[in-house]
Amino acid sequence: MVELAFSILAADFAHLADEIAAAERGGGTIVHVDVMDGHFVPNITFGPPVVKAVRKVTKLPLDCHLMIENPDAFIPEFAAAGADMISVHQEVCRHLHRTLQLIADHGMKPGVVINPGTPVDSLIEVLPMVHHVLVMSVNPGFGGQKFLPFSLEKMAYLAELRHEMELNFRIEVDGGVAHDTVGSVVEAGAEMLVAGSAIFGPGGAEANGKSFLEAARE
Ligand code: DX5
Ligand code: ZN
Repeated sequence: MVELAFSILAADFAHLADEIAAAERGGGTIVHVDVMDGHFVPNITFGPPVVKAVRKVTKLPLDCHLMIENPDAFIPEFAAAGADMISVHQEVCRHLHRTLQLIADHGMKPGVVINPGTPVDSLIEVLPMVHHVLVMSVNPGFGGQKFLPFSLEKMAYLAELRHEMELNFRIEVDGGVAHDTVGSVVEAGAEMLVAGSAIFGPGGAEANGKSFLEAARE
């Protein structure tokens, strides 16, 4: 089953509760929260206080994508703020296995993320312990970037590994996923579809969410 994980990075922050409600009416079932620190990625967004505020206005699961240098230091705070899933980048975790365990110990679903330049094979050892693997289809830092087609092979390879290893982690994709690219990511095996600019923007999140999911199911 494919799910729309709408990224609030592209929403109107002054009306965040309304934007989330509209995306939910549009069929979105996961709130994707892009946390950026200005170090790992060249942009700064928001942190636990925003997660806590969002927690109060929706019952949907909160999927926190941490694009930060030292995720271990903030995992307890995200848990306390109400995060349901935490994804950490392979590239910043010197002790990836420990960090994923720390997320699980705090009662959240652990996910691991790889940048476009990072190979799937670097994850083999941790695949049995993750709830999801997030394949970046742009270099992280900004919404509205162009989808990188070679990421499709990484999703397909993950689906193959999942089968071979008899696991059941979910495959998530993030970056440049829009009405014109969503069909190809679903075909490659992605199930949690992150979309920001395709949802929030002209047309409104309700209508855009519906047409996005229609395109995903075509
Ligand atoms: C990029 C973020 C994405 C971003 C996606 O660093 O991780 O979640 O918001 O935005 P779009 O869908 O516009 O590419
Ligand atoms: Zn993201």
